[in-house]
Amino acid sequence: MAEFKNILLTRDGFVATIQLNRSKALNALNTELMTELVECLESLDQDADVRAIVLTGSERAFAAGADIKEMADATAIEMLSRDQFARWDRIRKIKKPLVAAVSGFVLGGGCELMMHCDIIIASETARIGQPEILIGVIPGAGGTQRLTRAVGKGLAMEMILTGRQITAEEALKAGLIQKVVPVEFYLEEAQRLAREISERPPIAVRLAKEAILKSFDTTIEMGLEYERKNFYLLFATEDMREGMAAFIEKRKAEWKGK
Ligand code: CAA
Repeated sequence: MAEFKNILLTRDGFVATIQLNRSKALNALNTELMTELVECLESLDQDADVRAIVLTGSERAFAAGADIKEMADATAIEMLSRDQFARWDRIRKIKKPLVAAVSGFVLGGGCELMMHCDIIIASETARIGQPEILIGVIPGAGGTQRLTRAVGKGLAMEMILTGRQITAEEALKAGLIQKVVPVEFYLEEAQRLAREISERPPIAVRLAKEAILKSFDTTIEMGLEYERKNFYLLFATEDMREGMAAFIEKRKAEWKGK
């Protein structure tokens, strides 16, 4: 894998952890960092030795948003031709489960990056918001769509129209995140969860993730059809035979990822 300047990659068994590592700018998501992140994620997605990915930042900041200094002088046409959001579409297409471990500032593009992940663990110190309105713009990496689907219209309106940051507890109550833990444990807890997922049959995990994500952009009718096809497809896997045989023989299943 290429050398990265703005992210750190570590592995433990089937779990890979990517840490955003641009602390001098509170992990602001500049072009270089986003390019490295997408390349790293795509490469892990192709790696059979990786079954779940944890995405984290630092205790002080998961990420304070897109890099304002990189955008401040840009014209609309320059922004259009930079096409920065194409990279975000590639993150949306990652097939392996992504667990976010967030702490501190989770703002703007940082909140949007968190919402690209499948399950979110936060430290008690996390402050989550879409403050773009305060610098004269609106979210551009999916915030108006994903936040609204996650927390409902009223809170999304309030957060995006005022720029107010919410606490981890408030985000938990609103259903935006799944768990809040003391700051010393948030990464460990995300890695524990990723490890648990990595111990499940990987093809079933992949098809389950795909089917769940499908529910966001299709009708219930089409979504159910999609789910059924994925369900039937799993009967072509060795892991399905093994899983059911192990149940009947009262033993632990050994997954092959086949
Ligand atoms: N872009 C570029 N640099 C940033 C940044 C950002 N989003 N956020 C923080 N930084 C830099 C600061 O400029 C500062 O750098 P210098 O030391 O060189 O001046 C450094 O990180 C530390 O930041 P502060 O001194 O501001 O730290 P603080 O503790 O006083 O404040 C903060 C922290 C409240 C997060 C504040 O930095 C802040 O408001 N940041 C911007 C948040 C924001 O507006 N995010 C949305 C960006 S737009 C977007 O994300 C669009 C989209 O949808 C994709």
